[in-house]
Amino acid sequence: MKTLIVPFSERYLAQTLIIEKQAQPNPWNEKIIRSCFGRRYMNFALTLANSDQLLGYVFSDHVAGEVSIMNICISPQYQRKGFAKQLLNHLVSHSQAINAETLWLEVRESNIAARALYNELDFNEIAVRKNYYPVISANQKKPINNKENAIVMSRDLAF
Ligand SMILES: CC(C)(COP(=O)(O)OP(=O)(O)OC[C@H]1O[C@@H](n2cnc3c(N)ncnc32)[C@H](O)[C@@H]1OP(=O)(O)O)[C@@H](O)C(=O)NCCC(=O)NCCS
Repeated sequence: MKTLIVPFSERYLAQTLIIEKQAQPNPWNEKIIRSCFGRRYMNFALTLANSDQLLGYVFSDHVAGEVSIMNICISPQYQRKGFAKQLLNHLVSHSQAINAETLWLEVRESNIAARALYNELDFNEIAVRKNYYPVISANQKKPINNKENAIVMSRDLAF
């Protein structure tokens, strides 16, 4: 399957909203996505080559040499094919090209898939933020009265 990584733009918004609902326990809405458009953000879309079909995306922001990943997501039927790895490697190269020093992210303690991905890409666990994320009930998709820890991870971008 041939894919392409391009800067994220508004043309992918509708597909992003669908993928968010399918893949995320706490999906982003249009307002949140739009708040991540602008100069300080580095957002990329992964699409099928020769098509506008969106397979996944990564949103990050860049401030004073630090790049923070705010969202990375792959459409459920395209997971486990190496696409998140491609997007992250692209973000790493792009961040190095603009001389950023460190890549940061936060991940739910229970998110085994994402933590395995970040471990494979040489992120280190730096800290635990206790009771950071709301816990979403499986059937209602609503926060229940519980919180989940966030693991803070980083990767040095020095060559
Ligand atoms: C986490 C996520 C982005 C991974 O995307 P993906 O395209 O399936 O990941 P890749 O295929 O690039 O996987 C790369 C490696 O990560 C690890 N990994 C990915 N998914 C995994 C899973 N479900 N279980 C265990 N390890 C997993 C594996 O080491 C994998 O390498 P391998 O397939 O050769 O074993 C995807 O599951 C997703 O979109 N989840 C919902 C959104 C989310 O949780 N985002 C992260 C928020 S911090």
